[in-house]
Amino acid sequence: MTTVHIDASGPLKGTLVPPPDKSLSHRMALLGAMSDTPLRIANYLEAEDTLSTLRAVQALGALVELRTDEVVIRGAGLRQAREPDGPIDVGNAGTLMRLLPGWLAAQDGRSFTLDGDASIRKRPVDRIAAPLREMGAQIEASDERFPPFTVTGRRLHGIRYELPVASAQVKSCVLLAGLLAEGPTTVVEPTRSRDHTERLLAAAGVPLRREGDAITITSADELTLPDLLTVPADPSSAAFAIAAGVLVKGSRLVIQGCGVNHTRTGFITIARRMGAIVLGDLEHEPGDDTVPTTEPISDLDVAAAGLVGTVVDPREVPLAIDELPLVGLLGCFAEGETIITGAHELRLKESDRITGVVEALNALGGDAEATEDGFVVRGTGGLRGGTIDSRGDHRMAMLGAVAGLASKDGVTVNGMEAAAVSYPRFLEDLAALR
Ligand code: S3P
Repeated sequence: MTTVHIDASGPLKGTLVPPPDKSLSHRMALLGAMSDTPLRIANYLEAEDTLSTLRAVQALGALVELRTDEVVIRGAGLRQAREPDGPIDVGNAGTLMRLLPGWLAAQDGRSFTLDGDASIRKRPVDRIAAPLREMGAQIEASDERFPPFTVTGRRLHGIRYELPVASAQVKSCVLLAGLLAEGPTTVVEPTRSRDHTERLLAAAGVPLRREGDAITITSADELTLPDLLTVPADPSSAAFAIAAGVLVKGSRLVIQGCGVNHTRTGFITIARRMGAIVLGDLEHEPGDDTVPTTEPISDLDVAAAGLVGTVVDPREVPLAIDELPLVGLLGCFAEGETIITGAHELRLKESDRITGVVEALNALGGDAEATEDGFVVRGTGGLRGGTIDSRGDHRMAMLGAVAGLASKDGVTVNGMEAAAVSYPRFLEDLAALR
């Protein structure tokens, strides 16, 4: 385990190019593997999670070439995924574990076992097993709901599925299965979640329609993806630098080429409401019936500012799901209370992020309290510092480092190596801004 001490910092200055988007890298690799024609992906994220995806699609028969400036995938084809020799190892990647079965469920007569690390074995897969079974697939999971689990492909039929939770992973899984099913498939979201899968499928010529919260897909014989797709910078990774720039007095940062899809910018909206200065050309929510095919990007200007507490609306939760721990951190420095509700999903991430955030902030001198579906942070004007454990969770490790920069005495993070899951150059990038 790597232990790192992050000292309190003077003003952060300079320009940051955040790493490529993890959600989009996973999805582009999967669609490339499903395609009959080669796909070049520029700016693919070479981090632990998305390298797991490349190994997984290779095991399923896709050819993957890692060039210096792009990844080239020669796909297996929509219905030709190869049955691998052994289990597919998804590592720590929940997105891979939940999206891939959508494709595999339609590989008639072939079986695929998925497994991963100790954290992934605690993450539920019943949420994808239920709709895939309804569509005709056969799924067997440990204790009915955990990895390792086996998907046996069948001829699928379309369904109408009301998502019990706003999960982009489950939505995407059902849409991928719908792409290969007989008859239309409709997924209804309780509230909007990231829409990268819809955008990519629309770009691949797949018939897809959005009406309010319902998305309907009909099957396609092939994907006609553009020859080249480029991954924008990840707003969830950028959020760590944004939080640092807002919290460390006197800071002034430029974040370059950041993805600003409106389903991913909830953290910026919430931070701005708290008083943060984050300027950029964020995407407006497109109207119904439109499924945009490209991802909007913008540079972001960030400057330190005084903050006030806020109440996060449950409808904002999916738009900021991975950044909610950072909202808690901002809350420690804000005047008044910061309250998050409707975020029970945080308990099911790479670690239980409700317990983790509350314990970490309190260990550093904050005043935070867990609730069943969120947390309350009472602003105390800052953090003293101390020691936290990442619990093997990349986002908790990086939160600890940002807290260190903004604290009085610095923060020691045990388990900093977890950052490599999504952001291998995190510490170097932070150091370059000091
Ligand atoms: C993701 C969706 C979210 C998010 C995860 C990535 C995706 O999970 O927390 O880090 O790429 O679709 P849920 O769909 O389970 O909310």
